[in-house]
Amino acid sequence: MSYEARLNEACAMVIRAIKMEDSPDINHLRTMNGVRETILGIASERVADTEAFIRNLSHGDHMLVAEIDGHVVGCVGLTVSKMPRESRTAGLGIMVHADYQRQGIGRALMAAILDLADKWLMLKRVELSVFIDNEPAVKLYLSMGFVVEGTKKFAAIRDGAYMDEYLMARYRI
Ligand SMILES: CC(C)(COP(=O)(O)OP(=O)(O)OC[C@H]1O[C@@H](n2cnc3c(N)ncnc32)[C@H](O)[C@@H]1OP(=O)(O)O)[C@@H](O)C(=O)NCCC(=O)NCCS
Repeated sequence: MSYEARLNEACAMVIRAIKMEDSPDINHLRTMNGVRETILGIASERVADTEAFIRNLSHGDHMLVAEIDGHVVGCVGLTVSKMPRESRTAGLGIMVHADYQRQGIGRALMAAILDLADKWLMLKRVELSVFIDNEPAVKLYLSMGFVVEGTKKFAAIRDGAYMDEYLMARYRI
């Protein structure tokens, strides 16, 4: 058995690149209560939408999933800007299954994607948007070196209201 296989067997959780077979799990994550509300998901999203999303990922898209017992319980993504002069900038998104939150999975996914951003893509800037009342996410981002750059007013709809979002970013200079 390879070193990698033994390592994976020893760990309850594996962080790995996304694959097409993850579509049902990721669709489930994106639409579930406790996740959908804060990631701009919508209950009508179909597995086919997720399949199309995964199929259309390009070289500038870097998606990692956290897998436990054969199921995806978390996902993080980095999208490098396609604009040549923003080639050192990427957007970040993350979600963890509602039943698996507060167990360190979000922090592990963030550490993995930021390692990729810092050491393998050598990005200068990673940016994201987050609802201003999403305390778990804001705390996680602050603890990993992100700062609040500003507030987007009435940025997105959530449950019958227009919500403000923080613009946050992390710089490696
Ligand atoms: C935000 C999210 C990714 C955090 O993932 P997680 O696996 O629950 O987080 P972790 O257990 O790794 O905790 C990491 C840090 O996040 C913060 N945090 C997580 N849950 C929290 C909570 N309920 N209240 C306050 N802080 C919280 C803490 O700073 C925590 O560090 P600590 O354990 O040292 O205090 C997860 O809550 C989630 O997926 N939420 C729904 C989707 C979402 O909001 N995505 C982000 C959209 S911008």
